Amino acid sequence: MEQTTIYLDNNATTPLDERVFNAMKPYFFECYGNAASNTHVFGMTAKKAVEDSRKTIANLIGAKAEEIIFTSGATESDNLAITGAIDASSKPNKHIITCAIEHKAVLDTCAVLEKKGVKVTVLPVDSNGIVSVEHLENAITDQTVIVSIMHANNEIGSIQPISDIGKLCKKHGVYFHTDATQGIGKLPFNVEESCIDLASLTAHKIYGPKGIGALYVRNDCKISPLIHGGGHESGMRSGTLNVPGIVGLAKAIEVSIESLNDDADYTMSLRNQLLDCLEHHCKTLLINGADPRLHPQLRLPNNLNVTLYGDEGELLSGALWNVAYSASSACTSATGKQSHVLSAIGNMGGKDSTTLRFGIGRFTTQAEINSICDSIRDMMS
Ligand SMILES: Cc1ncc(COP(=O)(O)O)c(C=O)c1O
Repeated sequence: MEQTTIYLDNNATTPLDERVFNAMKPYFFECYGNAASNTHVFGMTAKKAVEDSRKTIANLIGAKAEEIIFTSGATESDNLAITGAIDASSKPNKHIITCAIEHKAVLDTCAVLEKKGVKVTVLPVDSNGIVSVEHLENAITDQTVIVSIMHANNEIGSIQPISDIGKLCKKHGVYFHTDATQGIGKLPFNVEESCIDLASLTAHKIYGPKGIGALYVRNDCKISPLIHGGGHESGMRSGTLNVPGIVGLAKAIEVSIESLNDDADYTMSLRNQLLDCLEHHCKTLLINGADPRLHPQLRLPNNLNVTLYGDEGELLSGALWNVAYSASSACTSATGKQSHVLSAIGNMGGKDSTTLRFGIGRFTTQAEINSICDSIRDMMS
């Protein structure tokens, strides 16, 4: 890999924080027992690490320890929350409400259920990528089982009014699931205060390891498991527990919440510097989603997503030859299709458009942003 490449794709994934790695390390080399082995010290040590991590995560999000189920990541958590709630419901004409800019882990899960006869309502979003709570209330019926609306969007960083949505769902007696993948550790998050029934988490967006996540499931919320086997995780998710990953997830959430304000201020200032520079040098620049300087409360502090038209797009790509950014999101860029998120906010793409998503991170340096701004200035003026 090119050593001089600057990493600005922190909404796709993040590097591991050394504090997280140090917390995980003993569970690879010394305490490598299976957390289900209750006849010896290796297993008991592993089990204690899992239960301590469960408590840590629960305390940090306003939950109880037994409400945290470990999974392989947010994709699995989204599948388990939505399919699990539908499978457990006894309503005759089951209905799901979601929105147009959800991650494919939610939208594709809903599409599979729709093929099996479940009714799915996909709410639109406004040009800032925000769902209307009023539209949501109008869409709820007596057959609605679950509303799934993400906390923050992975492409355009839009932040949904999850507390208003949670209160509304509570009023109507329907489950509220939120994909909190991009919000946790970057925005305040409390399942009790926001009346959340189910929440998907993952470690690798917050400087934790890949392949580990969790689903918060409120005690009185009934879901059916998707993976059957040894009855792990109270029967909700069988499979040998990923002990180092679980320790890493807890540490990553803990560190991110501790440094939430510092990280937000730092990444926001670098993001705004980059945006000011782009705006100064690119005449055709369009900000996808909320303008972070006018509506900082509507956008993740570390995210920027812009479209340029004609030659400017190619020129900018040239200026950013040594920068790792994303063409839209890592997941949709693999298919080469126009992003469903951009389409939903009215950006239909087109041959002469170039879209770039930047994700600033805790480890992005001021010098890196200065050097990117110098390259943009040299190439575009
Ligand atoms: C909003 C959102 N949901 C779900 C996922 C999937 O997470 P994971 O990679 O842990 O399966 C991602 C990651 O791309 C995401 O950004």
